[in-house]
Amino acid sequence: MSQNQTIETILNRRSIRSYKPDPISESDLNTIIEAGQRAPYVWEDCRHFTVVKDRDLISRLNAAAIKAGSAINKEMREIFQQPGFDGTYGAPCIIIVSGNEAALQHEAICGASIENMLIAAKALGLGSCWVYFVIFAFHGEDAASFKEELQIPEGFKPCAGVLLGYETEPFTEEEDVRWKNGVTFIKGK
Ligand SMILES: Cc1cc2nc3c(=O)[nH]c(=O)nc-3n(C[C@H](O)[C@H](O)[C@H](O)COP(=O)(O)O)c2cc1C
Repeated sequence: MSQNQTIETILNRRSIRSYKPDPISESDLNTIIEAGQRAPYVWEDCRHFTVVKDRDLISRLNAAAIKAGSAINKEMREIFQQPGFDGTYGAPCIIIVSGNEAALQHEAICGASIENMLIAAKALGLGSCWVYFVIFAFHGEDAASFKEELQIPEGFKPCAGVLLGYETEPFTEEEDVRWKNGVTFIKGK
């Protein structure tokens, strides 16, 4: 396959689920945030990025997400209650992307930013993972205090997290297990 570098980066990005504690540089972080900000949007002031580099706070978000997520159903409980479960996989940094609830399609708009950031991270040699899991922390009893601590603007809803960091070991996979979603081509006559 002949590819250009951007296509290679997109095709080779994978979700990373084990991180070294090493911090990522300010320069890389700023590039990733800018990639998120440059994603398509519809409305002004429709999304917000909260960068968390405090591992203690990340651990507290993990614990709150486990608690609130476990209340959802038995399947979730079985996953989250495994000893030592860490849905943030030891990542040293997480960017919480929040959408302005007053803006139509704010979740889609956040999604555009998230994907841009995942690709930017890959291009910079960093691992990343899109995690909804951490958003459970904003569903539980500590939701309001987390929103305050994270300075999430009034009227904005945390939509997803992006984990960032250096992977513990290079991602390897014998076969590509990703779903190839269906495609329909409608030909012109
Ligand atoms: C909306 C959304 C939410 C996701 N939430 C999580 C999550 O909470 N935890 C996790 O480990 N991966 C999560 N993922 C990552 C997917 O599991 C992953 O993208 C998928 O398995 C395909 O693998 P790949 O990213 O390596 O191509 C999420 C992905 C999306 C799009």
